[in-house]
Order: sequence, then C-alpha cells, then structure tokens
Amino acid sequence: MKVIIAKDYDEMSKKAFEVMKSVVSANKSAVIGLATGSTPIGLYKEMIKDHKENGTSYKEIKTVNLDEYAGLDYSSDQSYVYFMRDNLFDHIDIDLKNTNIENGKAKDRQAECERYNALLEKMQQDIQVLGIGSNGHIAFNEPGTPFGSVTHIVDLTESTIKDNSRLFKSIDEVPRQAFTMGLKNIMNAKKILILANGANKAKAVYGLVKGEVTEGVPASVLQLHPDCTLIVDEAAASLI
Ligand code: GLP
Repeated sequence: MKVIIAKDYDEMSKKAFEVMKSVVSANKSAVIGLATGSTPIGLYKEMIKDHKENGTSYKEIKTVNLDEYAGLDYSSDQSYVYFMRDNLFDHIDIDLKNTNIENGKAKDRQAECERYNALLEKMQQDIQVLGIGSNGHIAFNEPGTPFGSVTHIVDLTESTIKDNSRLFKSIDEVPRQAFTMGLKNIMNAKKILILANGANKAKAVYGLVKGEVTEGVPASVLQLHPDCTLIVDEAAASLI
C-alpha cells in the first residue's frame, strides 16, 4: 500500500484530486467508484473547481457508489443519492443516467442486491474512492464481514449509527440497515484511493496499514490489493 501523509484536510483533498485527475484524464469514459461521508467532500470540491476552471469533462464518465441507507431515496436529504447530487453530480457535466447507486427504496431487497452485483460485474471500477469508519469499516462492511462478500444488506453497528447520527436530526432517525457493495466488489477495482482525516480515525488507519489482515477490521483487506493508495492527514496518521 502506498501511504501519503498530508499536513491537513485541504492537502489530503488536493493530493486525492491529483490521483483522480490522472484517471479521468487517461480515460474519458472511466468507471469511477465513489463514496459518501465527510471525508471525500474536499476531493469532490476540487473536482468541481477543476471542471469549472479547466473544463475537465465527465460526460462519458460512469460512476458506481458504494452504499445507500435502506428505506431512503432522493426524496430524503440524508440519502446517499441526494448527497452525491448535492456534493458533486449537480456541479459537473455528468449524465445522471451514467451514475449508479443501490435503490434504498427497493421493495425486493435481495433482487436489488443481485441487480447491483450484475451491474458491477459489467463495470469494473478504474478507481474506487473510499473513506473509513472509526471501527475500520469500508462502505458499510462492518467488522466480521467476509472478504468474499458482494453487495448485501447489513445491520449497522451501534458505533456506526452513533458516528453517522451527527448528520441526522436525532439518532432515532438513522436507518438501522443499509445496502452496501461487498469487500470483493471493492477489491475488484483496478485502483483504490482511500482517504482518512482526523484523530478519531487513527486507530482504524493503524488497522488498515499495519494491523493483521482480518475480517475483524474490514479495511485491512486492502493490504492485499495490488494498487491501493492511502492519503491521510497527520492527525489520522498518528499511530502509523
Ligand atoms: C459511512 C459510509 C462510509 C464512510 C464512513 C466514514 O458509514 N458508509 O462509506 O467511509 O461513513 O464517514 P466520514 O467520512 O463521514 O467519516
């Protein structure tokens, strides 16, 4: 794993953008895997700025997103589909038809997982962006998820519900379940770019980089990926 330590969030975001730009410049119809959460917002701001200033086009780019809360869709501003439009898609020239995310409102959840897995089989990510949960989760693959997992429904852990409740009016509003790409779908990406910032991520970053490769720390599977770059700020890098 290549590890880049940035001095702060802004530098982390700028360095992440350089990696993203190299992928979209090399292939105008690349498949980019995207993540939600506070961590990649700075990267998305850099992409928007570059699109506006330099005209980098996303017209032919296709996207796949990691995860979505079960029961939420675009009508909820807490849904991940809303987040992606608000933080990126509405500000670049991407065709929304080329963007993909699990349908949180699907009536048949198993069929929705199967639909998404079939889609991912046809759309290998040229790059997959990831954040990391404070318990070492990636996407919504909580500790204990098999490394061979594909898109599935998860019961969110109490620690994730608590971490994510800051974005909801109250903890009771946080959905208890989510759809998530599995670890095998993530590992299938040609290139992985994982970002982490803030002292509350230091322990998870240690597990990601230096800990044992174990299903107890889902992010540790990335040690086995042939092209994974971690960009981390100094606070999150304090234990590595
Ligand atoms: C959520 C998302 C993850 C994300 C994690 C960290 O649980 N499902 O994809 O990486 O939170 O979020 P943040 O970047 O806000 O710390």
